[in-house]
Amino acid sequence: MIKRLFIKTYGCQMNVYDSARIAELLAPLGYAETGQAEGADLVLLNTCHIREKAAEKIYSELGALRRLKAAREHRGDRMLIAVAGCVAQAEGEEILARAPFVDLVFGPQTYHRLPDMLARAATRPVLDVEFPAAAKFDHLPARRSAARATAFLTVQEGCDKFCTFCVVPYTRGAEYSRPAAAIIAEARRLAEEGAREITLLGQNVNAYHGTAPLNGADDGDEWRLGDLIRALAKIPDLHRLRYTTSHPRDVDETLVAAHRDVPQLMPFLHLPVQSGSDRILAAMNRRHTAAHYRATVARLRNARPDIALSSDFIVGYPGESDDDFNATLDLVRDVGFAQAFSFKYSPRPGTPAATAPEQVPEPVKAERLARLQELLRAQQRAFNAASVGRVLPVLFDKPGRHRGQIVGRSPYLQSVHAAAEAARIGDIVPVMITAAEPNSLAGAIVARDRAA
Ligand code: SAH
Ligand code: SF4
Ligand code: F3S
Repeated sequence: MIKRLFIKTYGCQMNVYDSARIAELLAPLGYAETGQAEGADLVLLNTCHIREKAAEKIYSELGALRRLKAAREHRGDRMLIAVAGCVAQAEGEEILARAPFVDLVFGPQTYHRLPDMLARAATRPVLDVEFPAAAKFDHLPARRSAARATAFLTVQEGCDKFCTFCVVPYTRGAEYSRPAAAIIAEARRLAEEGAREITLLGQNVNAYHGTAPLNGADDGDEWRLGDLIRALAKIPDLHRLRYTTSHPRDVDETLVAAHRDVPQLMPFLHLPVQSGSDRILAAMNRRHTAAHYRATVARLRNARPDIALSSDFIVGYPGESDDDFNATLDLVRDVGFAQAFSFKYSPRPGTPAATAPEQVPEPVKAERLARLQELLRAQQRAFNAASVGRVLPVLFDKPGRHRGQIVGRSPYLQSVHAAAEAARIGDIVPVMITAAEPNSLAGAIVARDRAA
């Protein structure tokens, strides 16, 4: 009998990857994905703990699910509720105490045991938040499908950096790099199934240091991310590679050289800096300075002059003064970002910064965030406006919001929409950019003979 599975995913792309793997893992048990919680036999929330808002959202979502579950039980049907991901890892016991109607709670490193957990959940709630450092990869089935022309592939997981504001080292565990051979096999499979672009994922993806494939000349060696990218670029029909999220400390020469030499590696990099003040960077335990970040950007631009940059920023970290904040604005002006994410500092339980004195008052955080976002938005607008009139190769990967429209990405990760048949989805097509909107570009497909 077909059972219906509804997965709601929060947080970063690693959760998106995990959710896809969970669906693949449950397919042999008869679970087919559905787009809504109503009528689902298993509702799974794949959660994020990075900021307070993200974590609190889960409890309100659970409140709604509780009513749905009660209504189904009233009709004599069973509905299982599962909480997975980083909130599950951080607050497993608390979830079961606050929401006793939840049937399963499991962390990012244990979901390969889900079939067994489901069997056990038939009788009583299951909690599995152990940390067998990413052993899950050895137990997951082979990839079944690439649902879209663009796919995610986790190559590294966990983080050893311990930035003082961040929960990730606690929710994902220690850094672990998958062996290169397993990654190459998964990428081949995705490409055979229709993926034209793969984004390599890791919390700290450029800290990648996996074992080289056996039977290669460099048997037993350790590969860095740049080596892995070179190997993946040899896979037929895989036209684009990206990676995220990287740390400024781990941009090594093999990676910079890959940006110079590998045409499949897209000229776009998300390189979070968090702050432009050395004092704050030191307090955050980021282990690099603003000058080091500027120099890293210069190395990358030297290797690949058109590389577009993105970043993450935190405003209102404990002790951040006006001068510190102004140093962040200076860095933004100097570097110039194509897009960026910025957040108010959110104290996270168990992290050192949460108990630091000199917490910045909320109104100050709000005012700084507004100013930073205004500057970042202006840079994004300028970057997009500069694309108008250019022909960019766009990988279309889904239908657009309007009929007759499809959407894809430029090399610089800009979202581009154009009027075209759905049959072009999965193709990389030259597109003349005709207009820049705040978060996307509009374009017209250039006829093949003109593109040649
Ligand atoms: N591994 C990545 C980022 C992971 S979290 C890196 O090292 O950069 C994604 C972003 O969330 C971070 O870059 C940071 O800007 C933000 N973030 C993390 N913890 C936060 C907190 N406690 N408050 C506000 N923003 C936070
Ligand atoms: Fe968090 Fe820092 Fe690790 Fe990024 S590098 S995941 S911000 S601890
Ligand atoms: Fe959130 Fe966990 Fe990703 S806390 S950002 S889902 S690693």
